[in-house]
Amino acid sequence: MTSSIAVVGSLNLDIVVPVARHPRPGETVLGGDSVRTPGGKGANQAVAAARLGGDVVMIGRVGADDAGRQLKDALAEAGLEAGRVAVTEGVPTGIALIAVDAAGENTIVVSPGANAHFSSTDVEAAVEAIGDAAVTVLQLEVPVAAVIAAAQASPGVVILNPAPAQEVPDELLDGVDVLVPNRGELGALLGEEAPDDLDAIAALARRFEEPTTVVVTLGSQGALVVDATDALHIKPFEVTPVDTTAAGDAFCGALAEAFARGESIEAAARWAAAAGALAVTRPGAQASLPTRAEVEELVRS
Ligand code: RIB
Repeated sequence: MTSSIAVVGSLNLDIVVPVARHPRPGETVLGGDSVRTPGGKGANQAVAAARLGGDVVMIGRVGADDAGRQLKDALAEAGLEAGRVAVTEGVPTGIALIAVDAAGENTIVVSPGANAHFSSTDVEAAVEAIGDAAVTVLQLEVPVAAVIAAAQASPGVVILNPAPAQEVPDELLDGVDVLVPNRGELGALLGEEAPDDLDAIAALARRFEEPTTVVVTLGSQGALVVDATDALHIKPFEVTPVDTTAAGDAFCGALAEAFARGESIEAAARWAAAAGALAVTRPGAQASLPTRAEVEELVRS
C-alpha cells in the first residue's frame, strides 16, 4: 500500500447563479450571470486533497461531451490522476444547478447523468488503484451498490461522506472507518431530526454500530469528532462566508490528505476544518479549494 488517496464518486459541471434570496416552491426569482465551473462531490474532494499535496487518483464517469472533457481537464490541471475517469457514450455528464444567495448559502439540484452509470464493474476495473490507496474517499452521488463495492475493495482507511443526505444500508456502513456527515446528513442516516446541542449530536452519532468514528461537520460551529467514549469539539475558524458550496468537500478531501500523512484524527479534523473554512471565503466548488500554504497559515493562526 502507498500513501495515495483514491476518490470514488461523482463529477458534475456546476451551473451557478447568484440570487438575492432563494425562490419558494412555485416562485421565479431573477438571478445574476451564470457561471459553469467544475464540481461534483467526488471530484471536489479529489481536488481538495490534491491541492494540499495528496497523491490522488479519481475514479468515476462522465459523458462523451464538452462538459466531461472540461471536468477531466480540471482534474489534470489540479495535478491528479484522471485516467480512471471513464466515459459513457449517449448520456450527458452530470450537471448541478446551484443557486447561491447573498449570505453564501446554496441550494443544489443534481442531474446525475453519467454518474448514475458508475457501477461495481468500474470499481473492479480500478481495483489495483483502490488496493494501493492508504485512504479511500466515498460519497453518495453514484449508485450505492458501487459505493459498497468500493468500500469492500479498500484495504486502507475508508471515509464516507454520506451526501446527498439519505439512508444507507448497514452493508455500506460496515465497510467504513470514518463517517463524515453534516448535521442534516447525520439525521437522514438515522431517520430523525439532528439536534443542535453538541452532546445530543454526539449521542446520536454513537448510535452507529459501525463505523465507530464519526466526524460531524457543523459549518460555523466547527466539527465534532465522536467515538465510543469521547466527543472532541473542533472549534470553528472565523471567516466571512461568500459561498458555502464545497465546504464539506474541502473538509473531506483535507481529512483524507491528513490521514494519508499518518496524522491523528484530532490533527486531521482541525486541518480539515481550516480547509473547509477557507473554501467558504471564495465562490465556486473546485475554484474555492485552498492550497496547502493557506491551510497551514490558518491552522497556525
Ligand atoms: O458539494 C458541492 C457539490 O455538490 C457541487 O459541486 C455539485 O456538483 C454537487 O455535487
